[in-house]
Amino acid sequence: MKKPVLEKIVGPGLRKQLSDEARLAAERAYAPYSKFRVGAAVLASSGTIYRGANIENGCYGLGICAERVALAAATVAGEQKLTAIAIACIDVSADAPAHGSLPCGACRQWLAEMAPDAQIFIAGETDSYSIDDLLPQAFVLGN
Ligand code: THU
Repeated sequence: MKKPVLEKIVGPGLRKQLSDEARLAAERAYAPYSKFRVGAAVLASSGTIYRGANIENGCYGLGICAERVALAAATVAGEQKLTAIAIACIDVSADAPAHGSLPCGACRQWLAEMAPDAQIFIAGETDSYSIDDLLPQAFVLGN
């Protein structure tokens, strides 16, 4: 079932702050292999912002994306409602297509479960997305 259009609760000032936080987080990425640093900043309903960055590993498949690090940080802090997430790919080339900065499939699946109502922002872009935009008909465990 399609969800109703998200209420636009994050205004331009907060959106900019969240994007700036995501860029700062990206500066702390550990991405020696891809050299593609990503940061994410999750805004919880409490008002607290949680940061994440991609953390790679010499055993390549073990790396983790920025979005999932930030979502895990917010969850472990006890946040239950996540309002928005901004994502910043600070090494993306200027001529790369815009979708080169959107979350990967695994992170979309995490967003669907951990932040189903969050507004999703890409730093430097004016559009915003819902998880239904990015992952329609997401898998939800039914048991
Ligand atoms: N990456 C993220 O952090 N988030 C995404 O949604 C896509 C990709 C990271 C994983 C890897 O460290 C690097 O970007 C290149 O794929």
